[in-house]
Amino acid sequence: IRNPRIIIAIDGHSGCGKSTTAKKVASHLGYIYVDTGAMYRAVTLYFLRNHISFTDLPAIDEALATISISFQFNPETNGNEIHLNGVNVENEIRKLEIANAVPVVSAIPAVRRMMVAIQQKLGRNRGIVMDGRDIGTKVFPEAELKIFMTADALIRAERRQLELQQKGEVVALAEILENIRKRDHLDTTRAESPLRQASDAELLDTSFMTIDEQVRWVVRACENRIELV
Ligand code: DC
Repeated sequence: IRNPRIIIAIDGHSGCGKSTTAKKVASHLGYIYVDTGAMYRAVTLYFLRNHISFTDLPAIDEALATISISFQFNPETNGNEIHLNGVNVENEIRKLEIANAVPVVSAIPAVRRMMVAIQQKLGRNRGIVMDGRDIGTKVFPEAELKIFMTADALIRAERRQLELQQKGEVVALAEILENIRKRDHLDTTRAESPLRQASDAELLDTSFMTIDEQVRWVVRACENRIELV
């Protein structure tokens, strides 16, 4: 069987099911899945814990030199989990405190340079599904398949609220919606690698799709693309 291993770049807005979809698609294709948002979240966690000011560039450079980020497979969750300096921080990085600070940290050029270099290294052997904001535009502009995911902001807020609830965090819908709008704004207007749809990316609006439908849509797009390689 001919089975070329391609690079699949999934970009889009916060909370439209990118990670969940990308993870399932990767497992379906036997590809590696990399959640790049988790990497920016881990750096944010480190900065907050170590009281690194987001504007102190020399301190940031120094901190980045001591950070190591890796992914380890957890058979229990059947997924890759992020490790910061060897410690699993997968749960901690999902808290609202991190979500609120990460847009600022992910706009810092030195932070992006380091993360992009790690991401490109992770994709060296291809056969990878990577999700984020700049994967199709910056990290892998040559990716064989690019998908840009979006969904209505209120629908995304409702989904996020449910997700947080399941983890025992009770947060008002208005607060989550505000956080999503703020992140959309920051992600799309920042100077460094702003979120935008690559000219050769396929658009997927998930407002009225279930996760299963999203996965089927993306898997089909992948299979169509792999056939042409
Ligand atoms: O996908 P997420 O919500 O976990 O992303 C967290 C933040 O990191 C979000 O504000 C956007 C930013 N991000 C980025 O700038 N570039 C990426 N490739 C991935 C995430």
